[in-house]
Amino acid sequence: MPATIVVGTQWGDEGKGRIIDNLAEKSQMVVRFQGGNNAGHTIVNEAGEFRFHLVPSGILYPQVTAVVGNGVVIDPRVLCQEIDALRARGFDCANLRISGNAHMIMPYHILLDAAHETQLGRRKIGTTRRGIGPAYTDKAARLGIRVQDLADKKILRQKLDTAIGEKNDLLEKVYNSPGVDPFEVMEQYACYADKLSPYIADTSLLIDKTLKRGEQVLFEGAQGTMLDIDHGTYPFVTSSNPIAGAACVGAGVGPTAINEVIGVCKAYTTRVGEGPFPTELGGALGDHFVNKGAEFGTTTGRKRRCGWLDLVVLKYAVRLNGLTGLAITKLDVLSGLDQINVCSMYEYDHDGIRDNFTDFPPHQSMFYHCQPVYQNLPGWKEDISGARKLDDLPVEARDYLNLVSEEAGVPIRIVSVGPGRDEVVEM
Ligand code: IMP
Repeated sequence: MPATIVVGTQWGDEGKGRIIDNLAEKSQMVVRFQGGNNAGHTIVNEAGEFRFHLVPSGILYPQVTAVVGNGVVIDPRVLCQEIDALRARGFDCANLRISGNAHMIMPYHILLDAAHETQLGRRKIGTTRRGIGPAYTDKAARLGIRVQDLADKKILRQKLDTAIGEKNDLLEKVYNSPGVDPFEVMEQYACYADKLSPYIADTSLLIDKTLKRGEQVLFEGAQGTMLDIDHGTYPFVTSSNPIAGAACVGAGVGPTAINEVIGVCKAYTTRVGEGPFPTELGGALGDHFVNKGAEFGTTTGRKRRCGWLDLVVLKYAVRLNGLTGLAITKLDVLSGLDQINVCSMYEYDHDGIRDNFTDFPPHQSMFYHCQPVYQNLPGWKEDISGARKLDDLPVEARDYLNLVSEEAGVPIRIVSVGPGRDEVVEM
């Protein structure tokens, strides 16, 4: 199908990178449409391990044009570093395109992100401190600086002067921390301008032309549904919309262009940062997931919080994204467990009110006080990393997948059983 969106159905870190990598093999274009270098996608292929934060992971395929769309917030320092690192490993980035309409993360955004988190203290969001929130704030406040501004040094200077005056006041007078030097920032960004200018393009037009040629375009979501600023666990969310609808806005395509939406769902649940997480596990079981699943953030190295799969969350993601297919990742991490639990409902008992939720609760305070109700399934002991078709999986693993697909009401298209590129079961 020509236009496919891939999104996360949980709190990010679902393993979207490897699913994108799998689908990108048959695509001509891969497009990032939201978020920034708060994302981290790991790809393992014959050339080794690659970690991407901004560059779409499809760049590793020679036939793919990798696009950073207008909805992404770009830290040009990080982008330049990623381009250099790829070049050093023999991948020239001639097939990279960056939207001129994308907003840039500026040094003061990073300082403000950290200062705000520190000021919040115990009530902090647990952000990646990459300046994502402050950059989106400036975009909405019409104080942002866009990639296209790099092409006109006079305009860049004017916009910087306007923004820095306000930001330095905030940093110095509100947060009591040092501001930034406008001359230094101007110098730095002039260097990025020289480096990035060959890649700047009208990416909406490029995508349209690619689709009109009948070629396959993949839209690569970052973060996950539960981190969506409108529909996630606000305020413990990111500052963009990781759900599928945002692909149209953040890439500049109309909704009628989209054919498929694939939701990536880890066989269990993880979350980094603060906020409610009903199926969270501590103790030995939590450690099983952390250790066997190597659950440490690609971007910040933080240990992820781990828990059982939450079908209430998955069904919410199906609804919000209009999913047409599921990709289940890290099924192998469940191997060796005697029993596997899946949460199919929440029980709510608070302030004299008792209720059950099979759909996601409409109020954050309710979600906060929800207790998971589990279905218990038998586990399996076999190593499943060699499975390449459904029949290669133990019956308990197939039953698990069937339950997930039935409850979600969406077919499973692909299951990953190990980190390697070929360690997948295609349905
Ligand atoms: P921010 O996006 O850096 O502002 O962080 C806001 C929240 O989103 C924090 O809880 C982060 O840990 C979380 N977050 C942001 N990006 C990712 C990601 O790629 N994976 C998982 N969590 C993320």
